Amino acid sequence: MNPSEIIQKKRDGHELSTHEIDSFIHGLQNGNVADYQASAWLMAIYFQGMSPAETAALTESMLNSGKRIDLSDIPGPKVDKHSTGGVGDKVSLILAPLAAACGLVVPMMAGRGLGHSGGTLDKLEAISGFRVNLSEAEYKRILKEIGCAIIGQSKDIVPADKKLYAIRDVTGTVECIPLIVGSILSKKLAEGTEGLILDVKVGNGAFMQTKTQARQLAQALIRVARKTGMNCRAVLTDMNQPLGYSAGNSLEVIESIELLQYGKCKRPDLSCTDLKEVTLHLCARMLETGGLVKNLTEGRKRAQEKLADGTAWKIFQEMVSAQGGDLKNILEPETLPLAPQKIEFRAPKRGFISKMETTGIGQLVLEMGGGRKKSSDTIDHGVGLLFHKKLGASVRPGDLVVTAYAKEDANSEELIASLSQKISISQTRKPLPKLIVDTIE
Ligand code: URA
Repeated sequence: MNPSEIIQKKRDGHELSTHEIDSFIHGLQNGNVADYQASAWLMAIYFQGMSPAETAALTESMLNSGKRIDLSDIPGPKVDKHSTGGVGDKVSLILAPLAAACGLVVPMMAGRGLGHSGGTLDKLEAISGFRVNLSEAEYKRILKEIGCAIIGQSKDIVPADKKLYAIRDVTGTVECIPLIVGSILSKKLAEGTEGLILDVKVGNGAFMQTKTQARQLAQALIRVARKTGMNCRAVLTDMNQPLGYSAGNSLEVIESIELLQYGKCKRPDLSCTDLKEVTLHLCARMLETGGLVKNLTEGRKRAQEKLADGTAWKIFQEMVSAQGGDLKNILEPETLPLAPQKIEFRAPKRGFISKMETTGIGQLVLEMGGGRKKSSDTIDHGVGLLFHKKLGASVRPGDLVVTAYAKEDANSEELIASLSQKISISQTRKPLPKLIVDTIE
């Protein structure tokens, strides 16, 4: 089939048949579809959308572009979590070992940075030697022995998502429900999980900025997941500010280590309460889905215990080590790469932090070198932002609001000007957004 005819058909708003979708995805694999044709097709889908039948066919086609891993020989309930993407969202780094510590097997195929949002794989690769491309045998051995593994798409497993994901990242085609559904669920079906909790982010730093859009995405994801027999629920969580106190790869690993090691943030000028709350909530949902607890309250209690007694921290170290990561980076997080220039953004006036333009903040981290502008870019793990004040915090003139870790040649005045446009201070305190917004069963 001619790829340009399939592009034109979608461009003109017609429904594609399963055969046409299959042949396009297959063409991506065997070189009959060029990357520029894939870009045009993705943009046509972005504007024209896809019907539920097309979305299901896209997911199935992407899944069938590679192997589907069978984990039935590994004992225990297999439950994973996937986020639709946000800023400072390092939940997976803490949640995978935590859920494993609570008794689940967590087969997690994650993603790289996408648009303005960070990616779990990029964060983990801040750890020297960490390998996200494991062979199937290694992946299964680590799951069996440790209980969790975090891997990426490869030439063998969902190669179609590997390719489309990288193209979407740099072509303005991220915020599109059928493309998100195909991308997430092809990975989740391939990795071998039985249950899935979707963390659908909603707010000004999410791909779905309104509750209506976020609910539509959650429903589309659940519809396709259930069709395949996967036990799936979605939790809508707030993304109107970066999650936790950091955004940027190494800084987010440091924050995750701190939460795993001490159960809280140790520095008095920083807070990761929201990160902890979302992680515990999602863990409780995963345990409930895996049938290990009767209800959310019991799940939360177990998650709290396993965080506090150091089991999750131990499993994280084992997973990092098993995936080739340098334990020194974990045990002495100051050895993680950090950019050399520290730039401070201080409050220009008295008031309350009333708005954070979270997508813009994610884009700023990307501009600083923490993400990709074109797919061949290498990222700088050491750049990022520390948020000393979050929504609702009171500030006096001169109070430290953000510390930026920037490259040596970064322009501090431009960076401060950019931050001052993205963080608003008002005279009155605005009500804080609810952290756990909704659950879609
Ligand atoms: N996560 C993914 O894996 N894919 C998307 O499209 C969005 C979030």
